[in-house]
Amino acid sequence: MTHDDLSPVSFPEGFAWGTATASYQIEGAVTADGRSPSVWDTFAHTPGKVHLDQTGDMADDHYHRYPEDLSLLADLGVTHYRFSLAWPRIQPEGHGPLNGAGVDFYSRLIDGLLEHGIKPWVTLYHWDLPQSLEDAGGWPVRDTAERFAEYAALIHQRLGDRAPDWTTLNEPWCAAFLGYASGIHAPGRTEGAAAVRAAHHLMLGHGLAVNALRDQGVSTAGVTVNLYPVDPVTDSDADRDAARRIDGLMNRFFLDPLLRGSYPADVIEDLSDVTGTDHILDGDLETISTPLDFLGINYYSRHVVRAGTAGPGPSHWVGSEDVEFVKRGVPVTEMGWEIDPDGLYETLKRVYTEYGPLPLYVTENGAAFDDRVTEEGHVHDEDRRAYLDSHFRAAHRALSEGVDLRGYFVWTLLDNFEWSHGYSKRFGLVHVDFETQRRIVKDSGRWFSEITRANAL
Ligand code: FCB
Repeated sequence: MTHDDLSPVSFPEGFAWGTATASYQIEGAVTADGRSPSVWDTFAHTPGKVHLDQTGDMADDHYHRYPEDLSLLADLGVTHYRFSLAWPRIQPEGHGPLNGAGVDFYSRLIDGLLEHGIKPWVTLYHWDLPQSLEDAGGWPVRDTAERFAEYAALIHQRLGDRAPDWTTLNEPWCAAFLGYASGIHAPGRTEGAAAVRAAHHLMLGHGLAVNALRDQGVSTAGVTVNLYPVDPVTDSDADRDAARRIDGLMNRFFLDPLLRGSYPADVIEDLSDVTGTDHILDGDLETISTPLDFLGINYYSRHVVRAGTAGPGPSHWVGSEDVEFVKRGVPVTEMGWEIDPDGLYETLKRVYTEYGPLPLYVTENGAAFDDRVTEEGHVHDEDRRAYLDSHFRAAHRALSEGVDLRGYFVWTLLDNFEWSHGYSKRFGLVHVDFETQRRIVKDSGRWFSEITRANAL
């Protein structure tokens, strides 16, 4: 069911309107000023891992062009800007002292945002683990969680005075299961048991970091997860069990520890053939469930599943490799992701009623389309505008039914390095010519700037 109501809606006063980005996807300058390699540098430079063997070496050259990008943010009228810190820029070895030049970059960025009246919304980890920490075992190793909390504390000491809102992790599901189980993301390992341990240590690192930031008086701390509604294709017991399993791995495996302090028993049982629970130590769940000031939700689509047979090759659905994902034939984005704004409404309602009440933010939502620049230098991306319009309305519907939604960050500011898809998928409100680095605000960006200014659509 879609909701084609185009009547005007307005958002609560103080609602945060932003765009989101991630360090490795936009910064480039991968060897500048003492930055060390991250797992993504290594992965992208490994032949066959990324579309056309593209890398983030240059990306949007945001490291050098950030003043122009700050002007673009100002043009878009955003109140907030969500960006991530590159750990290997700030603490190149993943432990020990900070790299002053790396800290200075983010310090300048934050000052620039504040000069434009834009609130910085900092994410500590959007997947660029220092390679040296991966060499020491990566997220499957407990020590990485400790290192993360140390890094969080050190950088918060330097930037926290001007940036009050801190997010620990972006999408621990992706970092754990795409990185260590299917291996389609860095570091590209295909070890199911290691992925399960990685998920635990990511969440542990989150909890330790929140405590460290609290000790320093952080004003708001939270985490961002990516959630999908999961539906069975039929009402059969087998299909419903398939949906339970995928909902378990995708959503509850993260929401339950973070917000309830326990793992879902059924998922632990599903995983028992893969790995035990020796890596979960006494007190971990208490740390992981340290109360949050907000939960960030990244929403892109819905999963519809049925019981089936395992496909070839490694899967990110550890222990549930035999679940099949069904396409319903509804319109999709350039990623092949089904467009399903109702899924955003359902997700917000579900989290708020089952895990809340707590303040929520949509920390990412957006779409890749096959954008073209016209001869006059415009990008008429009506498909993206319609996508965002329908999702903003879905979020508003949840809000009007009492969900405490505080803000919405569009993914993303600039076309960029879309992980294993390289530069082939454009999600930006701003078009980037990767040869010349010329930026053009797309029609969707112009439309968005009217919404941010009116706080209504
Ligand atoms: C999310 C990531 C983000 C971007 C979008 C399309 O999973 O957090 O970096 O790749 O998907």
